[in-house]
Amino acid sequence: MRRPLRKVIFPAAGMGTRFLPATKATPKEMLPIVDKPLIQYGVEEALAAGMGKVIMVTGRGKRAIEDHFDISAELESNLNETGKHALYETVSAVSRMVEISYVRQKHALGLGHAVLCAAPWVGDECFGVSLADELIISDVSAMQQLREVYEQTGGSVIGLAHVPETEVNRYGMVDAVEEDGLLRLRDMVEKPAVGESPSDMAMIGRYIFTPRLLELLASTERGIGGEIQLTDAIARLAHEEPVYGVLIEGERFDAGNPLGFLTANTILGLRHPEFGDALRSIIKKNL
Ligand code: UTP
Repeated sequence: MRRPLRKVIFPAAGMGTRFLPATKATPKEMLPIVDKPLIQYGVEEALAAGMGKVIMVTGRGKRAIEDHFDISAELESNLNETGKHALYETVSAVSRMVEISYVRQKHALGLGHAVLCAAPWVGDECFGVSLADELIISDVSAMQQLREVYEQTGGSVIGLAHVPETEVNRYGMVDAVEEDGLLRLRDMVEKPAVGESPSDMAMIGRYIFTPRLLELLASTERGIGGEIQLTDAIARLAHEEPVYGVLIEGERFDAGNPLGFLTANTILGLRHPEFGDALRSIIKKNL
């Protein structure tokens, strides 16, 4: 029997500097892809993996995320009264979707620090971490793909993707070996210089951890950029106990920067059953 896996942390307290000024007063996790904010895609993905206890680590713009997942009595009764029943269902379903707790990261000291802020809520259970600005569209939920390796091994599991050599300086990059048909991670390095990465496999914002990760994070010193780096704590974890990697099957969009965001909106917009055809002809006219 594996330890239960029900909880997932969504760090959402970063500065979002790559997307300023849009993210000055709005968290980037609330930016919409077609008609849903990024964070909702992330929550739905976690739910599809059976992880229905969510903790959001928030900073500025906390209200927008809280309000999004809360009941909006005024809006819901307006939709009902005006006969917009389908929209009423859509809106009210969001507030019933999931159980959410909120914790505030007072200073943006890095992703590792954001995860550590949620430690009291995690206790000694295994847990997930999901970065909602990395949008993953897949048949099997990305978190579920991690979960399958977790169920098999009981160890920590990290979502990976191959990236071009010129982009290794944007990611935590891993050193991995194949072991019994699984990828076992030996080491990882945050944003290595081009030409200095141990492989072409990057960590892409989906993680399942044993609770030991939190103990290691608590004693992890500030690293690159003066931030407490999650990658540094994972490297320590991998030296102590098995940490596995999974190459995620699906489409990935780094929607935390304008180009990735526009790409996601265009591609998912073109596929949309209602707007797809109209969008296609607008784009054609403007080429
Ligand atoms: P990013 O580096 O992608 O987010 O962090 P950022 O710092 O907001 O973005 P830029 O680089 O300035 O544009 C990955 C995730 O970690 C969260 C972010 O919200 C994002 O989901 N994060 C980062 C925190 O919650 N706290 C932090 O101190 C840093």
